[in-house]
Amino acid sequence: MTKRKILFVCLGNICRSPAAQGVMQRLVDERGLSERFEIDSAGTYGGHAGDLPDRRMRVHARRRGLELTHISRRITIDDFDHFDIIVAMDSANQCDLLEMAPTREAQQKIVMMGRFIRFNLHYDYVPDPYYEGSEGFELVLDLLEDACDNMLDAIIAGKL
Ligand code: 4NP
Repeated sequence: MTKRKILFVCLGNICRSPAAQGVMQRLVDERGLSERFEIDSAGTYGGHAGDLPDRRMRVHARRRGLELTHISRRITIDDFDHFDIIVAMDSANQCDLLEMAPTREAQQKIVMMGRFIRFNLHYDYVPDPYYEGSEGFELVLDLLEDACDNMLDAIIAGKL
């Protein structure tokens, strides 16, 4: 059985995308689907490479029972080949990914996380919490829990 390989991408790979990775990994584990998925994250900007997720994001995630241990890395050209679904958190990430993608086929793997947000009508993207307070991190986690659940349903239903 081939695994579906999902890569979540944001700017720094220390706030949104490692949180998305943690949220999605927990969902697939809870649904007994761990063997069927490979889930990772990366940033379009490499300035935080080698770092754990931002401490504020780790604190807020831990309150929801999630330990975020991913080590930040910049996306590579090989990622466009390896992963099946490449998920951008916002339109800047999407633009950067479209520019970096080596082929048309690779471009077609890029999807917007906002497409899967159901319960918050104000957002069609996942906003950067880096310069925000606690509520920014809580908002990101709320959006990601909703969107990951919906995305996993779409994948299982064969719609993605
Ligand atoms: P992320 O947040 O893209 O969700 O990981 C950010 C992390 C770092 C910076 C900006 C956003 N930065 O400017 O260093």
